[in-house]
Amino acid sequence: MTVEKIDHIGIAVDSIEKWLVYYRDTLGLQYTGSEVVEEQKVKVAFLGIGESRIELLEPTADDSPIARFLEKRGSGIHHIAVRVDDIEAAIKAHKESGSRMIDETPRTGAHNMRIAFVHPKTTGGVLMELCQSPPEH
Ligand code: CO
Repeated sequence: MTVEKIDHIGIAVDSIEKWLVYYRDTLGLQYTGSEVVEEQKVKVAFLGIGESRIELLEPTADDSPIARFLEKRGSGIHHIAVRVDDIEAAIKAHKESGSRMIDETPRTGAHNMRIAFVHPKTTGGVLMELCQSPPEH
């Protein structure tokens, strides 16, 4: 199993429209579109930065995990996502080493990526997302 790169950094915000003014217009990142991930009740905006991305996360419902995050901590870095070439192997390695997985099996995230979150308690306080590109058809 290889960890390839930081795929993206997820930032929780109250309004994508509002914060695009900074990330796209002031900082100058390349905005490549938005997508609603129904399962996680979140709208995601993608901003390219080199080989990586920043993703702005806006809740689409009051019981969205992002809504709860904003309530507790306010806007800020929500998670870091690392791209792996074999997510099952990565999950297995985490479990064998005693790391606590929030997702023990991969689920589908934005861009149809296969993703699994690792609990911040076992990563030094950072919500870690493992992600793998969807299989090509
Ligand atoms: Co993510």
